Amino acid sequence: MADATSVLHVSPVIPVVTIADPQHAVPVARALVDGGVRIIELTLRTDSALESLKRIANEVPDILVGAGTILSPAQADDAVAAGAQFLVSPGVTPTLLDHMLQLDVPVLPGVATVGEVLGVLERGLTAMKFFPAGPAGGPDYLAAIGAPIPAVQFCPTGGISLASAPEYLALPNVTCVGGSWLTPRAAVEGEDWAKITRLAQGAAALA
Ligand code: 3PG
Repeated sequence: MADATSVLHVSPVIPVVTIADPQHAVPVARALVDGGVRIIELTLRTDSALESLKRIANEVPDILVGAGTILSPAQADDAVAAGAQFLVSPGVTPTLLDHMLQLDVPVLPGVATVGEVLGVLERGLTAMKFFPAGPAGGPDYLAAIGAPIPAVQFCPTGGISLASAPEYLALPNVTCVGGSWLTPRAAVEGEDWAKITRLAQGAAALA
C-alpha cells in the first residue's frame, strides 16, 4: 500500500492515545477535534482498544483514526476490520511489514536504526515513525540520518513533550511528532475533556 506521507501532514502532533474504557473513546476524539487536532493514533494496549477504535471510526467522522502498537499481522487485520484508517507499528519485521503493506490503508512503520530505515525504504515507503525517539538519539540523530537519506520523512515518537517538539519539528526530515502528552491518563479517566482540548490547542499551535 501507498505511503503514509499524507497522514504525517494532518497535524504537527499525532496524539498517541490509550483508552481503557470505550465510553471515553468518542469524547476524547471530539475533544481533540475541538482543539484543532484531527488525527488520533489509538494504541492497541487495552483489551477494549478495538471497540474504542470502532466507536471513533463510526461516530467521529472529523478525525482520522489510526491504530498504533501493531505488533502482529493479526492485530493489523483486526484494526483494519474495526475501522483503522492507518496503521502504526513501533518496529517492523519482514513478516509484519509484508502483511501490513497488503492492507488497504497507509502504514507508518517504526524504525530506530539506519539499517531499518533502509529496509523500509527498499519497500518503497518514505514516511516512517522514529521510535523511541528520545532514547534512540533525539533530534541530533534524526539530523544525522537526514544527511545521507534526505528522502525519508519521520514522525518521531517516544519521550517528546510540548517543550521538546519544536526542536524536532524544525528538522527538514520531520513532518510531525507523536506523543501521549495530549491525553494524560488522569484527564481521560477523570473525563476532563476541556483539558484535552486545551492540550490539543497547544499542539495544533505548533504548526
Ligand atoms: C508510542 O507508543 O509511540 C509511545 O508510547 C508514546 O510515547 P510517549 O508516551 O513518550 O509520548
